Amino acid sequence: MKIDILTLFPNMFDGVFTESIIKRAIDTEKVEINLINFRDYTDDPHNKVDDTPYGGGAGMVLMCQPIFDCVKSIRTDDSKVILLTPSGVPYKQKMAFELSHEKHLIIICGHYEGFDERIRSICDLEISIGDYVLTGGEVPAMVLVDSITRLIPGVINEQSYLEDSFSYKDNYLLDYPTYTKPRVYEGMEVPEVLLSGDHKRIEEYRKEESIKRTKEVRPDLLGDD
Ligand code: ADE
Repeated sequence: MKIDILTLFPNMFDGVFTESIIKRAIDTEKVEINLINFRDYTDDPHNKVDDTPYGGGAGMVLMCQPIFDCVKSIRTDDSKVILLTPSGVPYKQKMAFELSHEKHLIIICGHYEGFDERIRSICDLEISIGDYVLTGGEVPAMVLVDSITRLIPGVINEQSYLEDSFSYKDNYLLDYPTYTKPRVYEGMEVPEVLLSGDHKRIEEYRKEESIKRTKEVRPDLLGDD
């Protein structure tokens, strides 16, 4: 998969793509990630990419021209263009699964007060990572790339992500509790069932704990809130 990220702040991504699983996915050519500064595409003699809003109001608005020209130069029939905005559809694990099967993602990071409404016309999908406003789309882009890359076949063991919280093939439950050595830590014991070696009982315990935790923390996932 190829992912092109359109951003005014490519340096913000330093570190995120050069460590751990994402780095390995890049090194093994499971994913190619390009950071494109759309300021390089502006026609403006002063390199402007934003201007004041028509009708007045605070802040600056990203202009159409640099983003339109940048997208036109990289888009193919296989591309899916994503705009990151707090007004987008809520990002979910199911969407990460779907996007992990795409060939080419173009992710546009908004910034400042917003973007010219006409930029929406060149996008296939508008995504919000949550009901809060960030300074720009860069952190959301990192969230998308991380959550999508780990689902690309061959990047991590399939069983690991099928057992994740929100894993959508089997369920929408939160993760069950896990423990590692030592058996007792500051008086807190590992549940006996996990030491029993009885796989059926362990599976039942995990399912019950998953449901219990989901009921407590995210009843909306079970449809009973
Ligand atoms: N840009 C600013 N806030 C955002 C959010 N919550 N999701 C996606 N893009 C954003």
